[in-house]
Amino acid sequence: MIIYKKATLSDIKKMQELVRKEIAEGIILPRTDDEVATNIRSYTLAIKKDEIIGLSALHIHAPHLAEIRSIVVKKELRGRGIGGAIVKKLLEEGRLLGLKQVFTLTYRKEFFEKLSFKEIPKESLPVSKIWADCIKCKHFPICDETALITDI
Ligand SMILES: CC(C)(COP(=O)(O)OP(=O)(O)OC[C@H]1O[C@@H](n2cnc3c(N)ncnc32)[C@H](O)[C@@H]1OP(=O)(O)O)[C@@H](O)C(=O)NCCC(=O)NCCS
Repeated sequence: MIIYKKATLSDIKKMQELVRKEIAEGIILPRTDDEVATNIRSYTLAIKKDEIIGLSALHIHAPHLAEIRSIVVKKELRGRGIGGAIVKKLLEEGRLLGLKQVFTLTYRKEFFEKLSFKEIPKESLPVSKIWADCIKCKHFPICDETALITDI
């Protein structure tokens, strides 16, 4: 059975292990333990038999707007609906908080399109996102990610 729960500080080490390979490949941005701790309330985890098998974060940028960040599912368990379930949990959380829109910057356009996200020009994203985060990316400034957004 898979359960979905909010992360706590004691999860950080294992969260970092889960994303290590994707960070090395430049698919997910690196974040220090302190950065993850600062934002710990934004993370939702998928857990199977006490093991973290998936995670993602809902990062709030503005009163109406948040971003889905750092989504990953353990390699052997992909394609079974876990990633989709994590996104749905984050969108539900966003609705309860009163957000109106959620965007993402991703290499997995089709995955998010199946979850009702629509492609938008990257230039329409908040400037703070570009400077605070993109500058840390291996691929900056030649960004080949796709920006997508959904109303919630
Ligand atoms: C992207 C990721 C989180 C998806 O998680 P998942 O648990 O495999 O996704 P799901 O099983 O919920 O898939 C939901 C739907 O998206 C589709 N999908 C998933 N990954 C896809 C991909 N890479 N390309 C196209 N479609 C994809 C699935 O086929 C599924 O469609 P269906 O509902 O019609 O069967 C997972 O593949 C992953 O961890 N990838 C590596 C990290 C990564 O690329 N993160 C994105 C950062 S940009």
